[in-house]
Amino acid sequence: MSHPSISWPPGTVSRVPYAVFQQADVFAAEQQRVFEGAVWNFVGLEAELANANDFKTTFVGRMPVVVTRDADGEIYVFENRCAHRGALIALQDFGNAKEHSCVYHAWRYDLAGNLQGVAFEQGVRGKGGMPAGFDKRAHAPRQLRVTVLCGLIFASLGDEVPPIEEYLGEEITQRLARVLGRPVEVIGRFTQALPNNWKLYAENVRDTYHASLLHTFFTTFGITRLTQEGGVYISECGGHHASASYSRVVEGGEGAYTQQAIRSQNAELAIGDLSMLQSTDEIGDGIVLQMLSVFPGFVLQQIHNCIAVRQILPTGVESTDLVWTYLGYADDTPELRRMRLKQSNLVGPAGFVSMEDGAVGGFVQRGIEAAGGECSVVELGGHDTRTQDFRATESSVRGFWRAWRTHMAL
Ligand code: FES
Ligand SMILES: [Fe+2]
Repeated sequence: MSHPSISWPPGTVSRVPYAVFQQADVFAAEQQRVFEGAVWNFVGLEAELANANDFKTTFVGRMPVVVTRDADGEIYVFENRCAHRGALIALQDFGNAKEHSCVYHAWRYDLAGNLQGVAFEQGVRGKGGMPAGFDKRAHAPRQLRVTVLCGLIFASLGDEVPPIEEYLGEEITQRLARVLGRPVEVIGRFTQALPNNWKLYAENVRDTYHASLLHTFFTTFGITRLTQEGGVYISECGGHHASASYSRVVEGGEGAYTQQAIRSQNAELAIGDLSMLQSTDEIGDGIVLQMLSVFPGFVLQQIHNCIAVRQILPTGVESTDLVWTYLGYADDTPELRRMRLKQSNLVGPAGFVSMEDGAVGGFVQRGIEAAGGECSVVELGGHDTRTQDFRATESSVRGFWRAWRTHMAL
């Protein structure tokens, strides 16, 4: 494979060449070196495959995959590519099937992706068919290693990837378990098309700097005046992060959004229905907001009681699908479930505090159109990629680039 041509001084992560968001050779190399390399790719939730023979289809980078659960409860992930002439094997987003059969010429696969049957293998009346030496066991779509952590399913094509807890490190593993340590149910999902390279979203989600600046809902209603302690935690490799904001926890479980904070400096603006901002400290540690990322493309959000996972899927050099899956706990009371659903209006592509994230990546992509030779400045909080106990930093953004450069060997 050819080496992408990017000029980037070794080790530097506080300058990022814009070309990495633009070049087709970088995009092609990422498929092999990042997504098919020594990483764990998030592919779904155990809760999405609740029953035997349930399956879903998704992607590992650009590679289509099928995620299945067999009758023993075992989970498998294999490339969604028929071993015959390459057609997709499974066509639905979700379904239930004891085996999978390709629509083109009906080659059949078991739930692990092993080839089980070849139509007309013996020909018709002794004529045609496969040659005598044809061995079904030698033909299969690629089968991925699978691991499950806190109900999250990850898959890997890299032989050298360490076990998931080691991959994430203790801090990130604990912060993930903090939110997903209990059984969950899917309460909503959608896919958001982003007009930008996938790495601009990977940066955005690790960027604590922009939250109170870009998201004017916060400042308009003075919500950021509330004292918020917090920090950014970054894994050894740089690629995974968690940022947390604490808020004063009002007795009785009320969250940060108290009534007096919900009036704008501009007297014409007020929030009519405050019930959307009601929340409860259900995890019990006072963290009102935790964003967590796993390199390369997984995000876990806990914003008050709004819990969701996001999967960043590149669809082209300048286009990305962001797959959102909203979660509730299996033991939610009906009141809590209603509260959760209502709070979901805060985030998402039309959310009061995050619709801007769906636009700003496109603004960058358009802004850098003629600047492939220039670099961005990622210097807030210094040049390193260390954990910091404040949030006016781009340390976790630099961390992403450190991990990316390692995997890309760039
Ligand atoms: S391409 Fe799948 S059976 Fe021919
Ligand atoms: Fe944002």
